[in-house]
Amino acid sequence: MTLSPATGPYLAQILENSYPIWNDGLTPSAYARYWDAQIRTPWGAAHLDRVALVDGDTVVSSLKRYDLNARLDGRIRRVLGLGAVFTSPAHRGRGAARELLQRVLATAVTEGYELAALFSEIAPAFYERLDFVSVPLHEIRIAVRPSRGSPAVLVRAGDQRDLPAIAEMSARRSATTRLALERSEELIRFGLTKRRLLAGLGPPGLRQVEFLVVEEGYTAVAYVIGSEQDGKWFIEEAGDRDPAGARVGAMMQAMLSRLPAESPPEIRAWWPHDFIPPQVEVAERYPTNGVLMIRALTDGILAVPPLRAEDVAYWRLDYF
Ligand SMILES: CC(C)(COP(=O)(O)OP(=O)(O)OC[C@H]1O[C@@H](n2cnc3c(N)ncnc32)[C@H](O)[C@@H]1OP(=O)(O)O)[C@@H](O)C(=O)NCCC(=O)NCCS
Repeated sequence: MTLSPATGPYLAQILENSYPIWNDGLTPSAYARYWDAQIRTPWGAAHLDRVALVDGDTVVSSLKRYDLNARLDGRIRRVLGLGAVFTSPAHRGRGAARELLQRVLATAVTEGYELAALFSEIAPAFYERLDFVSVPLHEIRIAVRPSRGSPAVLVRAGDQRDLPAIAEMSARRSATTRLALERSEELIRFGLTKRRLLAGLGPPGLRQVEFLVVEEGYTAVAYVIGSEQDGKWFIEEAGDRDPAGARVGAMMQAMLSRLPAESPPEIRAWWPHDFIPPQVEVAERYPTNGVLMIRALTDGILAVPPLRAEDVAYWRLDYF
């Protein structure tokens, strides 16, 4: 079996076979367009691809590769993100995914990656056998105290010109954690575009994306990127120049004040542990569904240190 870029007929096989589990409510053609659009974005074109383990014309196993950087204990490391590991049903249980991962990881070492990371949707034992370790990551369900009277901040829709300020706020926030992605403007734009594509390609009204900012002197000083589905909100990412996060809290009050008569929606987020705006209460905290797993690629040079959930800042916008 050989390793090949997953394009053309190989890609068509992967999309067809993986559609039943990862379609997110899209039609088969929208599912294909969703991938195609991602790899045409400026970030996607340079940092995202799929590779496949093929036997002649047949794709046996495949995965997505993301070229990322993370800051771990103060040093920036190149990280290979792995996603959508998939073996076609007829070839399962014969070591294909393991072989594909081993080959991809060996190539990554020669390409200068120091770490590999993935989100496991299955019991982690499979990836532990390949030396990945779980990094604890928490999701929270939050309650926002209603504002008395009219909301205290002026909120507008965010756009491209806000991305430099957002990248800066994001970098400042992650500087205080032991593990966080290095997030360029392009990467943040990619995450936002991906959410919007999923909303736009899906059935009308199923998902909405909201990108809101508060500005001072024409510069964004706080922002929220949220998605909504089935009346539930997920705060994909948020930031505030004020470390206490009071403007994000006020923005969330403003968002909720648009739904006067209804009971408040369920709101969930992956937030850094030290970022809880004063208007917000954590109602529940639990491990994320997808388990973040990491391994060092260069034996002996770097080991992944034990990390607690408080040591990690990871926005759901960057889930891969
Ligand atoms: C998970 C998957 C990629 C494994 O592919 P594969 O080529 O059969 O894997 P290998 O033969 O190398 O290894 C098989 C091992 O995978 C693990 N595994 C497979 N499916 C699993 C599942 N649903 N939950 C937990 N472990 C699983 C088991 O440890 C299995 O070992 P066993 O056969 O001794 O029980 C394949 O089952 C698949 O495509 N599943 C659907 C997509 C998916 O869930 N991908 C994982 C995303 S994180």
